Amino acid sequence: MRRPQLDIQLKTPEQIELMRAAGLVVAAALDRMRAAVAPGVSTADLDAIAESVIREAGGTPSFKGYHGYPASICSSVNEQVVHAIPAPTQVLRDGDLISIDCGAILDGWHGDAAITVGVGEVRPELLRMAEVAQDAMWAGIRAAARGMLSGRGRLTDISYAVERAVRAAGRYGIVEGYGGHGIGTEMHQDPHVLNHGRPGRGPKLVPGMALAIEPMVTLGSPRTVELDDGWTVITRDGSIAAHVEHTMALLDDGVWVLTAPDGGRARLGDLVTAREPAQSSA
Ligand code: MF3
Ligand code: CO
Repeated sequence: MRRPQLDIQLKTPEQIELMRAAGLVVAAALDRMRAAVAPGVSTADLDAIAESVIREAGGTPSFKGYHGYPASICSSVNEQVVHAIPAPTQVLRDGDLISIDCGAILDGWHGDAAITVGVGEVRPELLRMAEVAQDAMWAGIRAAARGMLSGRGRLTDISYAVERAVRAAGRYGIVEGYGGHGIGTEMHQDPHVLNHGRPGRGPKLVPGMALAIEPMVTLGSPRTVELDDGWTVITRDGSIAAHVEHTMALLDDGVWVLTAPDGGRARLGDLVTAREPAQSSA
């Protein structure tokens, strides 16, 4: 059976430097929002922070106007998985778990990342789930770096590594139907990156690829429903969900986690490209 041809945009190292600048804007916006998360703060407040950080850096919020999306972030609280629209009426409460997804365009290049943060005092099992999602994301990024460096890696090695990390951590749902993606001069490019599946399939992992890796996990069923607003995705069983994301690029000497302030150094060590200064502080 013939597979549909994927249209993968390979970037030059110079273009990846431009994506790094965009990634750092997203990182700065997420840092500011993480610091602002507290009981009594609305998701619209967080959205305003994101928009101002991005615009002050000379960037444009990429989500705004994307297929009509009305805001600069997706703010998905508790059973909301992804793509929830911020609102002044959605006020954070002690014990909530919020996933904040943010994207920016700088000089025509995109960055896209998400964090999951507890509000006030949060049940340990929720924080643990957020950590599992994050560990799985890093496992996927590590697999991409190793696969590219060996010359034998393929796209679904990432999917496999993400799934394995989640399964090894416990009985979590891995959301299907949403996943990571190529990224560059558009937010969403080929290829789609599943968060589960067998390794060794799909395009080869080669220098110049830039991918957003974004696991979504739940404390219950992996099944989701989209609400009538046409955006908000919630778990079907009402279980709490977590979503984290980084944009990363493959260079011939290693990986660059473009939306991580330290380029991924703390988590990946020598797998990180020499373009990331070694003395960079996280
Ligand atoms: N950041 C999301 C993703 O990773 C996209 C958000 S959808 C938007 O795919 F409409 F809000 F932009
Ligand atoms: Co994304």
